[in-house]
Parts: sequence; structure tokens; C-alpha cells
Amino acid sequence: MAKFEIIVGSVLGASEYVADALQEVLLSHTHSAEIHLTPRLSELDQSANWVICTSTHGAGDLPDNIQPFADQLKTQTLTTTPFLVVGLGDSSYDTYCHGSIQIENIMVKAGAKLLCPALHIDVLNHPIPEDAAVEWLKDWLKNNEQTA
Ligand SMILES: Cc1cc2nc3c(=O)[nH]c(=O)nc-3n(C[C@H](O)[C@H](O)[C@H](O)COP(=O)(O)O)c2cc1C
Repeated sequence: MAKFEIIVGSVLGASEYVADALQEVLLSHTHSAEIHLTPRLSELDQSANWVICTSTHGAGDLPDNIQPFADQLKTQTLTTTPFLVVGLGDSSYDTYCHGSIQIENIMVKAGAKLLCPALHIDVLNHPIPEDAAVEWLKDWLKNNEQTA
């Protein structure tokens, strides 16, 4: 059993639905998984697997609920933190998924280890984004169950 911290960035709620679906998958694989809708560094286990699940708003910006956390990360060293990224975005924007790309870059700069390439879900092609996220996570778990 592994521990997962699911960190959510959302304005309209779609990423929250995705986070709930990811949590369900992790729990059904007997992992622990806690959702953080107002993420704070002090409340996260830095040696757990982090799953960052965020949309993009504005002009490539992170949602307001996760921006302070992203700013906090810029001053951190996170060399013990493995992480996954699920980004929701709309490919009609030039800044497609830029919010999730931003936070991924901040994490990598802090020394955290990206466990596999980020999943970017285009809401234009995926009216039910959680379906794509669940399939991706199940695949990842299948290939990494020994190490997760
Ligand atoms: C005002 C507004 C701005 C947006 N800006 C972007 C953007 O810059 N890049 C992008 O990929 N998606 C953008 N989107 C699409 C959202 O990321 C997408 O609708 C997502 O599903 C919203 O998820 P949420 O409900 O968790 O916030 C924007 C949506 C809105 C309503």
C-alpha cells in the first residue's frame, strides 16, 4: 500500500470530479489517498506520491485555489517527493494546459521526481474528463504497482 496526496486546482469543479475519480481508483487498489482542495505544504506528506490535478484559467494561469501553493513550492526543496500530473484544459486556447505545465516545472525545479509524462485532458474531446484520467491512472498502476 502506498500513500497518495491528491492536490486539486479548480475553478468550475471539473478537476474536482477528476480528483474524486482518481481517489476512488487508488482506494480500490488499497492505497491511501487524500484530496486537498486548499493545498498547504504543511498538510502534505512530502514522501507520499503527489497527484497534481489542475485546470488552466485566465490566460494560461493556475486556478486561484492552487496559486498560493504553487508560489510556496518555488522556495522548496522536494527531493523526496514523487509526483504525477493531470492537467485539464481546452485546446482552443493558445495556452492549452499551461497551468499544469507551470506547476509541473516548479515541482521539477524543486527537485521532485515526475513519475511519468503528464496527462493533459482536452475537455473539447473529453466531455467526461474523469474517464480519461481513470484509464490513465489504472494503466500507470498496472505498470508500477510494485513501486508505487
Ligand atoms: C475563463 C476561462 C479561461 C480558460 N483558460 C484556459 C487556458 O488558458 N488554457 C486552457 O487550456 N484551458 C482554459 N480554460 C478551460 C478550462 O481549463 C477547462 O474548462 C477546465 O475543464 C476547467 O476545469 P475546472 O472546472 O476544474 O476549473 C479556460 C476556461 C475558462 C472558463
